[in-house]
Amino acid sequence: MNPLEKINKTDLPKHIAIIMDGNGRWAKQQGEDRIFGHHEGVNSVREIVEAAAEIGIKYLTLYAFSTENWNRPKEEVDALMELLVATISLETPQLNKNGVKLEAIGNLKSLPEACYNELQESITATQHNTRLTLVLALSYSSKWELTEAVKEISKKVGSGKLKAEEISENTIAQFLCTKAYPDPELMIRTSGEHRISNFLLWQLAYAEFYFTDKLWPDFRKNDFYEAIISYQNRERRFGKTSEQLMSHKK
Ligand code: IPE
Ligand code: IPE
Ligand code: MG
Repeated sequence: MNPLEKINKTDLPKHIAIIMDGNGRWAKQQGEDRIFGHHEGVNSVREIVEAAAEIGIKYLTLYAFSTENWNRPKEEVDALMELLVATISLETPQLNKNGVKLEAIGNLKSLPEACYNELQESITATQHNTRLTLVLALSYSSKWELTEAVKEISKKVGSGKLKAEEISENTIAQFLCTKAYPDPELMIRTSGEHRISNFLLWQLAYAEFYFTDKLWPDFRKNDFYEAIISYQNRERRFGKTSEQLMSHKK
């Protein structure tokens, strides 16, 4: 049976987040430079976005560039930004065709102007699509996001618009870049690294983690389906006992 047939379509995660890692190592294995790996990684992005839309995932967040990635060699950062602009403009018609709405989270103002403009154009061009929301995390880090949220909440408290005692988990969630999305139920990281590298610390509080040794350019539709199958075979207890969940099912 192929992996797609093993997926229970009535129990899909609404939101999947992915740390797309391993482009550089993939390129090295081919005797190429790191940029070559980033180019190949775009093909995986295209396949996974298509797969997510096809099976009915509503939100897909892809970690494309972290705050820390600005510290890479300038040639690599420049190449990544160029690739981003080129890919976004090239893929927009396909996103529209597949009903994909593009959005972005992160410190977007820190992106080069051309990149920022291209991104905004594509966001506008796809804003009415409803099948899948594709969220690109760009110049994103969770500690940056949480720091910004604390600043904004403090301003509200300072100006008397919000009482400190009234701050709830929901208040905090409403000040994050992800306020419009449900928390991801599943987080996938490729390349064999077992860490979250400053990605969605708050939002992943109860996510299921799926790690695979595959490098991102090798991660394709069937690998994505396998991750979903693994998710569907887990018991999500949210602090309760297994027995409590069983009696609830009856
Ligand atoms: C992920 O691949 C892409 C980005 C972080 C932009 P890497 O570039 O981190 O590849 P490795 O981890 O060095 O192999
Ligand atoms: C995480 O990958 C960021 C992205 C995938 C965009 P990194 O390769 O930058 O993470 P570390 O350095 O291995 O933690
Ligand atoms: Mg990496």
